[in-house]
Amino acid sequence: MIIPTYDERENLPRILDRLRATLPDVSVLVVDDNSPDGTGDIADARAAEDERLHVLHRTEKNGLGGAYIAGFGWGLDRGYQVLVEMDADGSHPPEQLPRLLDALDRADLVIGSRYVPGGSVVNWPKSREVLSRGGNLYCRLALGVGVKDITAGFRAYRAEVLKGIDLSGIESHGYCFQVDLAWRSLQAGFRVVEVPITFTEREIGVSKMSGNIVREALLKVTVWGLKHRVDQAKSLVGLGKR
Ligand code: GDD
Ligand code: MN
Repeated sequence: MIIPTYDERENLPRILDRLRATLPDVSVLVVDDNSPDGTGDIADARAAEDERLHVLHRTEKNGLGGAYIAGFGWGLDRGYQVLVEMDADGSHPPEQLPRLLDALDRADLVIGSRYVPGGSVVNWPKSREVLSRGGNLYCRLALGVGVKDITAGFRAYRAEVLKGIDLSGIESHGYCFQVDLAWRSLQAGFRVVEVPITFTEREIGVSKMSGNIVREALLKVTVWGLKHRVDQAKSLVGLGKR
């Protein structure tokens, strides 16, 4: 379980308690970007009492993408077969994680989805839901994929997927990292399955969503989509010549 944190000092102990109540034995890695509020120290204190809890301290805030790439590297180096992403703020219910893991028997990447039947969003401001749904719709159209919640951050990856992707070549910093990885997984031919989850807006602390994160996502998804269409056209022309 990889949990990225930036200023989550009140949320981290809560989510770790919930996680341990559901999955007592799972190995957890907190990836903290030197949070000014001292989340890293709280993680260290918890790790001193929990031999299956580890902490990766990074020196500066470098985005969700950078934190996960570091965390995946850490996990792959140690031979873990399944790597899970989850937010620290309680939005992703650890109680629903067993369902995600169960779906790995028919998938290489399981996405905990808000937008498939049975999935839901609780307490999100309308503006945020519109942004998320609009972003997902744009991704579906631009990339031509069927995934309903491609920006979702509650996921389980088989190690093979992450080994099959050049993680060091990923340039996505913000939340488009999630789209980037799903897109690369699909293009590499891995099976992606969505499982419904209940996403509940955080009660404590603030979202790190920003205008820059939205702009990065819009720009990158557009470029990936265009490149994909050009590649498709090239292969059509190639076929025509034969
Ligand atoms: N280490 C680190 N570095 N952690 C970060 C950073 C960073 O730069 N930015 C955010 N995080 C951590 C937060 O502390 C939290 O645990 C998690 O990443 C998600 O951040 P939030 O700021 O709570 O995200 P959100 O609720 O606005 O966005 C959610 O929805 C997005 C769109 O669907 C998340 O689930 C995203 O993953 C998702 O893409
Ligand atoms: Mn959140």
